[in-house]
Amino acid sequence: MKTILITGCSSGFGLETAKHFLDRGWKVIATMRTPNEEVLPRSEHLRVLPLDVTKQQSIEALVEAAGPIDVLVNNAGIGFAGAVEAMSMDSIREIFETNTFGLIALTQAFLPQFRQRQSGVVANVTSTVTLKALPLLAVYTASKAAVNAFSASLALELEPFNVQVRVVLPGRSPTTRFGDNAKARMPRNFPAEYRDFAAPIFKAMREDTSAVTYAEDVAEGVWRAATDPTCPSMLPAGEDAVEWARAAGVA
Ligand SMILES: NC(=O)c1ccc[n+]([C@@H]2O[C@H](COP(=O)([O-])OP(=O)(O)OC[C@H]3O[C@@H](n4cnc5c(N)ncnc54)[C@H](OP(=O)(O)O)[C@@H]3O)[C@@H](O)[C@H]2O)c1
Repeated sequence: MKTILITGCSSGFGLETAKHFLDRGWKVIATMRTPNEEVLPRSEHLRVLPLDVTKQQSIEALVEAAGPIDVLVNNAGIGFAGAVEAMSMDSIREIFETNTFGLIALTQAFLPQFRQRQSGVVANVTSTVTLKALPLLAVYTASKAAVNAFSASLALELEPFNVQVRVVLPGRSPTTRFGDNAKARMPRNFPAEYRDFAAPIFKAMREDTSAVTYAEDVAEGVWRAATDPTCPSMLPAGEDAVEWARAAGVA
């Protein structure tokens, strides 16, 4: 029986992915900043462990507690929309600490066991915003595009050890807590100089009725990344994601 470890399982894509693998008979280590077993079905195959990807001590304790795993899913992430000029460097760093450096630190911590066993899969959840530039998302996009580039290079470096690295790219998913979590982080006062520019963009985002990505699409994408040896290194997940990837020549 294989073991998957997933970050950010308290809600959204991480939670759905944990359920998806439990349903298919895998052992699941669901990590959360604040562990809460209630959000997942009871199962002898489930372990819920604490992890804050921005804290090295938390990463080290997790690696010790987790033991051997077959698949690492770096899903935890935070969003932010706003004008770069009005963002504090503290919030810019917070986004990179979580989405980029935390992911790199956790991956690094699990690599020795993958290399020694000559097997393993790392699946990194980024975003289709990395495929087509959108305004007011510069820092978030940069934090995720860095993961795409990191993953592509790491995949080559780990080839000799039979370790696969894949990127799953969800599209827009208004049904998770992502948007609300991002809003809670954003300053209340949008800079006046950008208001006329930003208002129609935010309105269009709110009123957009085009195809979206569902948590199940991402769980299915991670499943393919974990189990299908022919899975592409960049896998769009969700109807809108597939369209964007095709337009960008990625899939
Ligand atoms: N929803 C979208 O539109 C969308 C689109 C493309 C890509 N994505 C990406 O998909 C991933 C999952 O997003 P989601 O939509 O499922 O959002 P979500 O419901 O907000 O889930 C994000 C998860 O990340 C966790 N997290 C945040 N900071 C963390 C930290 N420092 N350490 C460990 N865990 C942390 C959150 O835990 P807490 O409960 O502790 O905050 C939560 O479990 C993210 O990487 C996001 O960037 C989302």
